[in-house]
Amino acid sequence: MARLVVVSNRLPLGDNPSGGLVVALEDALRASGGLWVGFSGEPVETPGDALEFHPGARFERASFDLSATDFDAYYLGYSNSVLWPLCHGRADLMRIQPEHLDGYRRVNARIAELLVPHLQPDDRIWVQDYQLFPLASELRRRGVTAPIGHFLHIPFPGPADCAALPNPAELFDWLSQYDLLGFQARRDLSNLTESARQLSRIEPLEGDRIRLCGRDLRAGVFPIGIDTAAFIDEARSAPDEDRMRSLTGAQMMIGVDRLDYSKGIPQRFRAFQLLLEQNPDLHEKISFLQIAPPTRESVEAYRDIREETEHLAGRINGQFATVNWTPIRFIHRPIPRNVLAGLYRQARIGLVTPLADGMNLVAKEYVAAQDVSDPGVLILSRFAGAAETMTEALIINPHDPTELAEAMARAMQMTANERRRRHAVLLRDVSEHDVGWWSAEYLATLG
Ligand code: ADP
Ligand code: F6P
Repeated sequence: MARLVVVSNRLPLGDNPSGGLVVALEDALRASGGLWVGFSGEPVETPGDALEFHPGARFERASFDLSATDFDAYYLGYSNSVLWPLCHGRADLMRIQPEHLDGYRRVNARIAELLVPHLQPDDRIWVQDYQLFPLASELRRRGVTAPIGHFLHIPFPGPADCAALPNPAELFDWLSQYDLLGFQARRDLSNLTESARQLSRIEPLEGDRIRLCGRDLRAGVFPIGIDTAAFIDEARSAPDEDRMRSLTGAQMMIGVDRLDYSKGIPQRFRAFQLLLEQNPDLHEKISFLQIAPPTRESVEAYRDIREETEHLAGRINGQFATVNWTPIRFIHRPIPRNVLAGLYRQARIGLVTPLADGMNLVAKEYVAAQDVSDPGVLILSRFAGAAETMTEALIINPHDPTELAEAMARAMQMTANERRRRHAVLLRDVSEHDVGWWSAEYLATLG
């Protein structure tokens, strides 16, 4: 069988990965074996001129180095100060600088240069996410004819957002060099079609086939999942359950997100404040645990969101806390996955309220972690890709504090019967469409 070569920006070389992409690919590669290529993690003064290999039991990893200049331009700059805000509906946060686009192109060319000598004739190459859009064109330029697929983990921008790019047509030129474009949700595929159509870059062909910039390829929706069975086991055997329970006292509501402005954390804090203002009977009955590890802190917008979040949590606690009760606990660091699984299981409410999100795996992890005889309630933003299939969650508009506060109150009062009925439907979906299903469907289509 053809070897699978996965390329992503992030390559977990240590334990405790956070971020949906890494968690999903780790699961997929453990199942199929192959090679996973990615960035070594920290910029270095003198980047090596070859991939460094790290053998593993189930699959091999190979890392590349980046200089500080390349890292700033490619990762902090074009990837996370242009493409990320653009794809998450925040063109106002874009910081467009020509040297960042140059660095983005340069790093993608270098990754292709480092990878080509290690490719085997019957490899299938699977490129991940927005940091690597130009990789296929760089590989093709170096004579690679193997099937190359791309999967986008974040939303694809619609025409109005694409128009904010310095050179929108280039995005479609890059994408046209893949054989399969995979998206999280139907909305992303229709954004691709609509945005490319406005630039006259696309002709629809039959079924999932499209002609993009004159080249024929396929495009489809492959909603990513989690390793559901493993996560269920993790939650059932979570450590220190009694100790954690005695710490919480009240019913727990949990949020788990990288501290990113797309995740809607200040909006959910404000809704929680409204809930407490309108429902004094809930004081000391509900406590909100927000776990939000730092991410991309050298980018200004991320420093701003941290300040805003800490300020809000402090204000709400100052307003409502009692000697026995802290309404919001805010943990700003990564947590081991098994502890996380146990916390989800104890939480009466899972709060997933992004303003824009490719999929959101936390929603799926929360469902998998529940005790089926007494499950909690998932509150889910309609702007998460997950909302296309997880329709038995309480689906809310995260911009509307009243609607969100009402959903919290409703979740607190929901009968065990209704919770079990909703949870059973959600769990079926999360179990049937797990990460194994996702990678198998994608790779079968790539061929
Ligand atoms: P994104 O890819 O934007 O980070 P997802 O919700 O799809 O968002 O994936 C986030 C992943 O990171 C989940 O698997 C989640 O469990 C993990 N994660 C988030 N916060 C933490 C944390 N504090 N500690 C450990 N893992 C975390
Ligand atoms: O899932 C989207 C994504 O941007 C991935 O590409 C990335 O690995 C993850 O979120 C975490 O972001 P970062 O790798 O920039 O810390």
